[in-house]
Amino acid sequence: MKFATKAIHAGQEPDPSNGAVMTPIYQTSTYWQKAPGDNQGYEYSRGTNPTRKALEDCLAALENAKFGLAFSSGMGATDAVMKLLQPGDEVITGNDLYGGSYRIFTKIFANYGITFHFVDLSDPSIIEEYANRNTKMIWIETPTNPTMQVVDIEAIAEISKKLELTLVVDNTFASPYLQNPMDLGADIVMHSVTKYIGGHSDVVMGALMMNDEELYKRLWFIYNSCGATPGPMDSFLVLRGIKTLHLRMKAHCENGRQVAEFLKDHPKVERVFWPGFTDHPNHHIAAKQMRDFGGMISIVLKDADLQETFRVASNFKVFTLAESLGGVESLINHPATMTHASIPKETREAAGVVDNLLRLSVGVEDIEDLLEDLKSALA
Ligand SMILES: Cc1ncc(COP(=O)(O)O)c(C=O)c1O
Repeated sequence: MKFATKAIHAGQEPDPSNGAVMTPIYQTSTYWQKAPGDNQGYEYSRGTNPTRKALEDCLAALENAKFGLAFSSGMGATDAVMKLLQPGDEVITGNDLYGGSYRIFTKIFANYGITFHFVDLSDPSIIEEYANRNTKMIWIETPTNPTMQVVDIEAIAEISKKLELTLVVDNTFASPYLQNPMDLGADIVMHSVTKYIGGHSDVVMGALMMNDEELYKRLWFIYNSCGATPGPMDSFLVLRGIKTLHLRMKAHCENGRQVAEFLKDHPKVERVFWPGFTDHPNHHIAAKQMRDFGGMISIVLKDADLQETFRVASNFKVFTLAESLGGVESLINHPATMTHASIPKETREAAGVVDNLLRLSVGVEDIEDLLEDLKSALA
């Protein structure tokens, strides 16, 4: 099945009890057992729920994976992956990451004896410099949040396989419509479903997709034991959101392209980070592994101090100043004080997340209104 058909149908059959075409919201915590252990595959909703199961099967199909697990947030999904590790294990990851990922690595899992190496993965050969016999996992984000670096998934997967490591790709920024890391050799794909997959800024959710059955069983055990699983109402909302994922992504990409080109020539803008530009340092990799370049764009304002950056960020009428991304509405975010505030200033600035950087999540409104808004906010 092609992507659009999977987005609308995968995991979803008319309900066997009454023929409902839309997957019902199974708002139940527990299930009848005829005799102890004699049930219809469902015991308790922390572990399994029919609405969530339909969503998980749909998510797996979108990433060309065999298995999918939904979590109550992207961070819940990340937390579960980290619990595959033991004290003493080491992880190699990028030096530009979502601030919450950096925070859970350095402030939570470092305390459990796991070591993280934050390195510039734009040249994958750096992995062999940091890998040792304790290294167990590579965690990558591509494009990265917020400097839009592009990491070569296939090249990293090759190294990861050679060193027998688990490769996890946070595919949030691309969405499964633009990029499928499983096809390029990843072991686990992670999503903040809150973003493009949900698409309407009304649900917080995460997901993991994988092919290996053993890995799926280990992650399901963590998911059921630790309990960060989403409820049926949120699962329903995401299933509904996914039905237009392909349509939304086309519009995000088209508006993103026009916004990036407009900003590139703007006198108040020093730099625009968008992987679709042919002079982006890893454009050729983006062109190889992504189907289009998306609607996430970061800009550095020319000669702007923090006060001027705040003035611009607060000056929009259509773009909303808010954390998050990937919804139908355009958002603007100031990573240094919002999404990436938990990263120490020197580390953040070394990765290019400077005080005068703003991140745009270009929505699917009319492009003329978006360009007009940018024009007047930057004036
Ligand atoms: C790239 C990326 N990964 C993970 C997350 C965490 O997801 P959630 O906010 O759903 O917990 C985010 C949230 O902004 C993100 O942008």
